[in-house]
Amino acid sequence: MGIHHSFPRVIIPKERVVVVTGANTGIGYETAKCIAEMGATVILACRSEEKAKQAMVKMNAEFQAEKDKKNPRIVDYPELSLEFMKLDCSSLQSVMDFAKEFKLSGRQLHVLVCNAGIGMSKQAYTEDGYELMFQVNYLSQYLLTAHLLPIMKTSGEDCRIIMVSSEVHRYSEFNLDRIQGKQYNERNFKRTLYYGNSKAFQIMQMFSMNRRLQNSNVTVTSLHPGVVQTEVTRNFTDLAPWALLFGVSKLLGASKTPFEGAETTINAAVNPALKGVRDVYFNNCKPDSIASMARKKHNQEGLWAYTQECLKKGGFLPEDVIKCLEGE
Ligand SMILES: NC(=O)c1ccc[n+]([C@@H]2O[C@H](COP(=O)([O-])OP(=O)(O)OC[C@H]3O[C@@H](n4cnc5c(N)ncnc54)[C@H](OP(=O)(O)O)[C@@H]3O)[C@@H](O)[C@H]2O)c1
Repeated sequence: MGIHHSFPRVIIPKERVVVVTGANTGIGYETAKCIAEMGATVILACRSEEKAKQAMVKMNAEFQAEKDKKNPRIVDYPELSLEFMKLDCSSLQSVMDFAKEFKLSGRQLHVLVCNAGIGMSKQAYTEDGYELMFQVNYLSQYLLTAHLLPIMKTSGEDCRIIMVSSEVHRYSEFNLDRIQGKQYNERNFKRTLYYGNSKAFQIMQMFSMNRRLQNSNVTVTSLHPGVVQTEVTRNFTDLAPWALLFGVSKLLGASKTPFEGAETTINAAVNPALKGVRDVYFNNCKPDSIASMARKKHNQEGLWAYTQECLKKGGFLPEDVIKCLEGE
């Protein structure tokens, strides 16, 4: 299996604020818990309050168990500094509500982990009219970064945006005429391709944002967590090759636990050596190559313009937010 790469255990001040989308289960859960155990204030941005609150109780119970074992690598707080804020990435209005509430709180924001995602869903469209994976995995989290960027820019040094992408980004196309998959019907919709596209778009957003954030305190990186045994398979139990991949990987011990799957994200979020690092796609905590489609500047800028068009249409991108995004 080679050398195992992980993250350094650091102590983070409580004032350092980290938002993790989709933090109630899987990779997001482990990411949120582990960063909170290092001391940061972590906001669980989740669509279900009930699931998020249950997750927070579980995180604190696991934290307490570690404290009882006298684990020296975690903080000695009475409780983890965790908060829930509602975010449903299938609704642009929900993203706007989240951003408004966050701005009103007057908080700073130091790390934004765009982790929420759905894998290989059947053909479906959101209330905003976009293909479901395009919106949940990419568009909504673009909107979230756009609205939180002005806060991050004024939150002091070393602020990081992390895109939890996937190796499936290699199976993707960039074709604006087909980007919403409307040429397909429920039977022939290419679920893997549209999942791959949404994951490639996160990487393309990383490049486009970094171009505009040069010399600023905010960096964007992306990553593949590995083949991780989480609830991600819930949407594709009917897709035999993928169900088989996850099943066989588990049997052979070739897949990761949710904690192991979170290590690359946690490293990107907390490793002091990564201060100022941008435009990197991590895999097993190390830089990896990126598919050529996603590396093409022409494609990245085409996607950037298309995305802004989508969001401006609904009045979701006011002038001041665009100016900040464009590096002004
Ligand atoms: N597991 C893997 O092998 C693997 C491989 C490559 C990349 N990834 C990526 O890793 C990330 C985390 O996935 P995971 O494996 O931890 O999967 P998971 O266990 O299914 O967790 C996904 C998280 O995203 C949330 N989410 C889904 N739809 C949402 C929405 N509309 N609004 C807000 N949150 C929503 C889920 O919330 P609910 O519980 O409410 O649904 C859950 O918290 C995803 O972006 C995925 O694409 C995973």
